[in-house]
Amino acid sequence: MRRRILSGMRTTGRLHLGNLFGALKNWVALQDDYECYFEVADLHGLTTEYQHTDLYPEWVEEMIVDWLIAGIDPQKSVILIQSKVPAHAELHLIFSMLVTVARLQRNPTIKEQARDLGLLDLINYGHLGYPVLQAADILIYKGEVVPVGEDQLPHLEITREIARRFNSLYGKVFPEPEPLLTRYPRLPGIDGKRMSKSLGNTIILDEDPESIRTKVMKMFTDPTKIRKTDPGHPDRCPVHTYHGLFTTDIDEFGISCREGRLGCVEHKEIVAQLLIDGLAPFRTKREGVKKELKGIIEDGLNRARKTAAETMAEVRRAMKLNY
Ligand code: TRP
Repeated sequence: MRRRILSGMRTTGRLHLGNLFGALKNWVALQDDYECYFEVADLHGLTTEYQHTDLYPEWVEEMIVDWLIAGIDPQKSVILIQSKVPAHAELHLIFSMLVTVARLQRNPTIKEQARDLGLLDLINYGHLGYPVLQAADILIYKGEVVPVGEDQLPHLEITREIARRFNSLYGKVFPEPEPLLTRYPRLPGIDGKRMSKSLGNTIILDEDPESIRTKVMKMFTDPTKIRKTDPGHPDRCPVHTYHGLFTTDIDEFGISCREGRLGCVEHKEIVAQLLIDGLAPFRTKREGVKKELKGIIEDGLNRARKTAAETMAEVRRAMKLNY
């Protein structure tokens, strides 16, 4: 029996290079060894994007299209849209009784998000409960393994606490899921800072070639390399990092950069072309994939709803709510 994975992505915009190399490639690789459920976390997205729901139809659809083009295989894995499986919300409400407000207020990931958004004490009730909804996402499918980045560890700890608490109160229904940390280091943005939609330093997966070229030509490089002949430091240059995304053949370029034989402009031209070619499927395959989308979404939701309904029946039985 393969162990079960549940992971998700919030809908906060279009997917970018950081999502592809930070999460998606990892998911694709896990499909053969685990039974995978991949969730479009649109309700989680609402915690910060509740004012931008006019963009939701596009974000949700394009996210699934990007997943499919990246190699998520709907024959192997279940693709589901969170808000279309209402049982997530039901289990979230039950779980909300099993965790204290004080516990949620100590969550460093939420604190940091609230700080970044300038919210201070103005965080909404749903946002505070973010990890409780995440616990429902995972546990409603009895997910045992959760591939995530470092920032998600505090959330996963709350999932584990809720599972333990539920099991000790009502009898064992849930596993205690384990994190599976992504081994890829975080991809820097085009400005060398952490890649994030809000910093405007991303390249989206179906970005048009001219725009990719413009962004790469403007990229941050090692500030101590001013002329081509200056020795560069590829290990701290995002151009070099991006160079390695779609090819393993980069050592020579690193040496030439260091030895002052490769200038940044020339290097950027090479990298821009590699990105344009590497991302080509995200531009050329969209229309074809969209033709199949409706059926894929329906099929994924049917499979997800079936598992979720089974778990909810168990929850009600365990809690004596099955009257
Ligand atoms: N919180 C996750 C993130 O921001 C997204 C997410 C929602 C998730 N539900 C999940 C991840 C369940 C893993 C499991 O990336």
